[in-house]
Amino acid sequence: MQGLHMVAVHHAYGSTAVLNNISFTVPAGELVCLLGPSGCGKTTLLRIAAGMERLQAGSVIIDEEVVADATIHVPPEERRIGYMFQDYALFPHLSVLDNVTFGLFRRDRVTAKERAMEMLDQVGMARHAARFPHMLSGGQQQRVALARALAPEPRLFLLDEPFSGLDTGMRSRVRAETLAVLKRNNVATLMVTHDPQEAMFMADRIKVMGANGRILQTGAPADIYHKPVDEYVAHLFGDMNMFEARVEHGQLISSFGAIAADAAVEGTIVRVLIRPEGMTLSNTDGSNTDGGGPQGGGALVDILSAHLLGNSSLVRFRVRDGINGGAEFHVRVPGSFDLTEIGPIWARVDPDHIFLYPLA
Ligand SMILES: Nc1ncnc2c1ncn2[C@@H]1O[C@H](COP(=O)(O)OP(=O)(O)OP(=O)(O)O)[C@@H](O)[C@H]1O
Ligand SMILES: [Mg+2]
Repeated sequence: MQGLHMVAVHHAYGSTAVLNNISFTVPAGELVCLLGPSGCGKTTLLRIAAGMERLQAGSVIIDEEVVADATIHVPPEERRIGYMFQDYALFPHLSVLDNVTFGLFRRDRVTAKERAMEMLDQVGMARHAARFPHMLSGGQQQRVALARALAPEPRLFLLDEPFSGLDTGMRSRVRAETLAVLKRNNVATLMVTHDPQEAMFMADRIKVMGANGRILQTGAPADIYHKPVDEYVAHLFGDMNMFEARVEHGQLISSFGAIAADAAVEGTIVRVLIRPEGMTLSNTDGSNTDGGGPQGGGALVDILSAHLLGNSSLVRFRVRDGINGGAEFHVRVPGSFDLTEIGPIWARVDPDHIFLYPLA
């Protein structure tokens, strides 16, 4: 199959193991994000794929060609890969056009220039072709770096935290543009980030790495967000509310009423995680749902604070009584939340948004 295959890759620096038996595939046209904490081995994995780090065990295959194994080591410049790292250094003494033409030394001058202009056009930088890097903003330099990396038509594209040098607004714009260019060019892409939202936005598949150099979960962004394999992965993708509950007759017994929990072991105590959007507040109790809202009884709560965060508000509250009495939670509600107008408030849990994990 076309694309990148890493098979049973191990890596150690001295006696410290960094990567443990990593195997995965990035098919042509797909973008795979490696997401994990600092120091878990993401850059090392990318450098091994590129050939900048010598493979110690396993094999690396690009488009069915073995580029590294126990006996083979194809050097980076012969792997037909493109890469873009955090410091996407352009050559300061070369114009934008010459920067992009630089990697096209195998072509004659005329077709090299044509190809470079075509890529600059794709990233919206054709009209700046004659400028020098110091005359460009960070985001513009990033786009030129993208054009330079893709101009030679790499079989594989490696990105290591490519947007971390950009401010928030520029970052989301450049990453949307980068994604569009990558998809148009149908290249297999492996990208490293430690920003879960960036991974959700960019990736066809996300691989979550743990601190032990292993892959904890692989899946489409929605799979990982909605079905995290463990608490660590669940927390990685955002704030969580938590409470503990006993499983009785296939249901969770909590201040929020009974919640179906078919998969949990009868009689055990489980930890229940809920994303802020998985809880709702209203001024009716659970017996009076409108049918479209979350099912199950509501817990009477005391509001602790409400902060407007743009188009939604973050509301903190405490459960008044019952098994989870005293427990604190936070939810996001659309618009602003007026503390002065409200009477009694009930919180309800949407059973589709909860994750259950056995108590360790
Ligand atoms: N050349 C090296 N020699 C010795 N140890 C190294 C070397 N390069 C990396 N390491 C160590 O290997 C581990 C993995 O490093 P790596 O750069 O792959 O992490 P990372 O996941 O990219 O982290 P970050 O998110 O901070 O960039 C770290 O503990 C690091 O200190
Ligand atoms: Mg790194």
